Amino acid sequence: MPSHAGADFSFVHFTDTHIMPGGTWQGLDTAVSLRRVMGVIVTLEPKPAFAIVGGDLASPDLIDRTRVLTSAEYEPAYRLLREIVGVLPFPVHFILGNHDDRPAFHRMMETRAASADTRHHWAFDHQGYRFIGLDSHVPGNAWGEMDGAQLAWLDADLDAHAGQPAIVFVHHHPWPLGLAWMDSMPLRNGADLVAVLERHPTARWIVCGHVHMDQQIQRDGLTMLTTPSTCLQVSKLSQARKFSAGPPGFRLVEVKGRTLSTRVLHLHGDAGVADL
Ligand SMILES: [Fe+2]
Ligand SMILES: [Fe+2]
Repeated sequence: MPSHAGADFSFVHFTDTHIMPGGTWQGLDTAVSLRRVMGVIVTLEPKPAFAIVGGDLASPDLIDRTRVLTSAEYEPAYRLLREIVGVLPFPVHFILGNHDDRPAFHRMMETRAASADTRHHWAFDHQGYRFIGLDSHVPGNAWGEMDGAQLAWLDADLDAHAGQPAIVFVHHHPWPLGLAWMDSMPLRNGADLVAVLERHPTARWIVCGHVHMDQQIQRDGLTMLTTPSTCLQVSKLSQARKFSAGPPGFRLVEVKGRTLSTRVLHLHGDAGVADL
């Protein structure tokens, strides 16, 4: 196992792509917005090692909120998402969010899951670091939750990789932001997740989507980071539900030895990387 002391790489976290073929969200074409973000990410130097996509991948449910869609009706959204992120010349790892459909995701993204309802959690090593993705999707609910089996799996994985710094990804935020609307739909048992992470001092960051804004919260050695959406953003001030049409954003993380560095990039105006 290579030590993380010599690590030298970067990766991106982009999230809440909300792909919905044939529809728009508050007048915004989420696919066009995601293509713009991809257009910037492919120009990054040095090239990132991988991408994590933080959930709310597909959202055809937002086109017609008067009924519950079938899994089959989600399939075109995942097909389009695959096509759009297919321009990235490095591996892409997906997280599920509240708007997703787990069976359609497994089928269209060819995850080789044991069953249509299998939780999509995963882990991999990169240059001595441990990367772990969790699944907080609960069908039919805006909030998230993790069952005991997944928390036990996380605990065991961190135990088995006790010498490696770990970065954990989950869609829903375990700690409140201080904004009432968003905090009405958190990771409901976030305290359980944090309790597991706090048993493992190697767990450095937990990186979330869902909230459509960037925020950082630290408690002792654990830091929660949230990343803006690739489409609509949520007000950082309003206690009530309030969206704004962009700007699209994503998070870049640079890892050098024991140092983790991160910044959020927003795409202002019509141009891409020249504006950043
Ligand atoms: Fe979202
Ligand atoms: Fe969400």
